[in-house]
Amino acid sequence: MKKKVLAAVLAASMCMGIAAPAMADVKIAFSQIGQESDWRTANTDSINGAIEEHEGWELIYDDAQQKQENQIKALRNFITQGVDYILFTGVVSTGWEEVLAEVNEAEIPLILVDRLPDCIDKIDYVAAFGGDFVEEGRRQVAWAGEYLKQQGRDSEDIKVAIMEGTTGASAQTGRTEGNLAALEDYPFMEVVAQQTGNFTRAEGQAVMESWLKSEDKIDVLIAQNDDMALGAIDAIKAAGLVPGEDIIIVGCDSVKAAFEAIVAGEMNCTVECTPLYGPFVVETIEALENGEEMDKEVVHPEEGVYDMEGGIDLGSTTSIKAADVIDERIY
Ligand code: AHR
Repeated sequence: MKKKVLAAVLAASMCMGIAAPAMADVKIAFSQIGQESDWRTANTDSINGAIEEHEGWELIYDDAQQKQENQIKALRNFITQGVDYILFTGVVSTGWEEVLAEVNEAEIPLILVDRLPDCIDKIDYVAAFGGDFVEEGRRQVAWAGEYLKQQGRDSEDIKVAIMEGTTGASAQTGRTEGNLAALEDYPFMEVVAQQTGNFTRAEGQAVMESWLKSEDKIDVLIAQNDDMALGAIDAIKAAGLVPGEDIIIVGCDSVKAAFEAIVAGEMNCTVECTPLYGPFVVETIEALENGEEMDKEVVHPEEGVYDMEGGIDLGSTTSIKAADVIDERIY
């Protein structure tokens, strides 16, 4: 409800001597992709929790169950409901121009989070926040390359499998770009398998099972999220191999389950992609409510890399020993 209307309702209630109804004056709608991973659950909890806890704010939440058509429907619904802000992340990066133009025409401030649409330069948005997916992908391969060098294995012919996220998602295209670019610095690493595991544990397990049958040898698994890495670990164990030793496993996200796998010696590294967007969303909407303008620059949170021993120099950061910080992980 808009502030002027709310004030009128409050004034009328007071004149009539009746208790004022509790009403939200800022309606915030969030179109979420689905719940494919531990990361996504933590992301939903962080954003929804921050909005719900904020006095005077109402959350209108839609889970699109990984379907673009559901997200498009949800966005049109938000427009019809006349919400005050829309938070949006796209399951894939293409196909949003028309519906986001409708959001712009309705003059609803659009806040982009996580996976950004490829039409970002053609639409109006008030703020954008999300992981630097290309850098995350670069860090994954750089970690494996530096670790192999440290082990004296850079004279071997190292076979690499890349398990990609949902095809067409900016998290998949960006991380793949970063993975492939970084491989150029490590000529002893060769990609022998590359396929999507759709960012889920179940598909990660299934893809690894099939690779273990079709490939003669896999030395390194680069999984573009931790859920797929954890699914792959189950498949590796079922095949009688030792994850973390026979196959070096590098995940992405840095969820608690990945920290536990690293501490147990079954996974080697996880590159962080933080899901904790709640504080950014609150700060942004509070600033906009106060009439401030936000910078259009995409804000990337500061992120780390966690592994078994720590100390691997990746240029932009140095890895941290997961066991030292596992208790601080809240998701
Ligand atoms: O867009 C962020 C990615 O989406 C996370 O890495 C992954 O776990 C999630 O499903």
